[in-house]
Amino acid sequence: EGVRIVVIGSTMVDMISYMPRVPDAGETLVGDHFALGFGGKGANQAVMARRLGADVWMVGCLGVDAFGDMTLENFAASGIDTTFVTRTPDVSSGVAPIWVEAGGDNRIVCVPGANACMTEDQARTAVESVAGVDVVIGQFEVPQNVTTAGFRAAKERGAITVLNPAPAAEISPDLLAVTDWLIPNEVEFAFLSKDSGISSGPTDAAVSDLAQRLGVHIVATLGEAGAAVFNGTRPVVRITPVPVEVVDTTGAGDAFVGAFSYGLAAGLSPATAARLGCACATSSVTRAGTQSSFPLAAQIGEALAWATNVP
Ligand code: RIB
Ligand code: NA
Repeated sequence: EGVRIVVIGSTMVDMISYMPRVPDAGETLVGDHFALGFGGKGANQAVMARRLGADVWMVGCLGVDAFGDMTLENFAASGIDTTFVTRTPDVSSGVAPIWVEAGGDNRIVCVPGANACMTEDQARTAVESVAGVDVVIGQFEVPQNVTTAGFRAAKERGAITVLNPAPAAEISPDLLAVTDWLIPNEVEFAFLSKDSGISSGPTDAAVSDLAQRLGVHIVATLGEAGAAVFNGTRPVVRITPVPVEVVDTTGAGDAFVGAFSYGLAAGLSPATAARLGCACATSSVTRAGTQSSFPLAAQIGEALAWATNVP
């Protein structure tokens, strides 16, 4: 019996222009090159979980446009079920124009479009339709009430819920109440900690304090410093990844979330699942792009070996 994951979340088409510098207002500049890629935090996490071998159902909304058609083709090619992906004629598919300057600095404008048209009913129906669902994943590029409806159905069925609170925003109490694991990065961690008087960054005490205050388990992702895992009872566990040469960090957080969720669904301990998340994220930063940078079969074998072979 395979691992079953439902992702309630966003799809975007990433339109990445590489340029010597960003233009000023009113200025036209000649760029270096351009790449079109499939992104959106939800879709990225779905693809990562699928590459590890999970059966994955995507719950999302696309426009009736060329990007919508292409996104469905990408899901089909990735082996992801799109029964619960709807389309709306009212707005465009989600897009993310991305400007990358020489030196690697990013500017991203995320335009949700159709992602905002998802409904509570859609999320609830999807989760209720997938018999034996193990993990349900959400993020913040679709309305929180939609994710809440899906997470509620997940908790009723005994599934684990994983929330990636990205991009940073306040979390509604209703959503927190049905969230098991919260996975913030450093920016999101600082945002969520700002009311607690904690200004020291994700120290062990800060991670466990935030988890207790919000009533969730936490994995804080820390870029090249790895991750900090707090499951409510044990001391905070630190995962330190292997250092690599960084090419492009876009989507690394999504690789982590998809792989961590796969690990939990497969019955790995949270710490081992976080090691798998780190290994997959580390692999992704060595290649350009978002989904295009995620590990494939051979690299996944290495990631699984590193995650499960604790020295
Ligand atoms: O997390 C990376 C993703 O965020 C990109 O794929 C972009 O689409 C934005 O949604
Ligand atoms: Na990458």
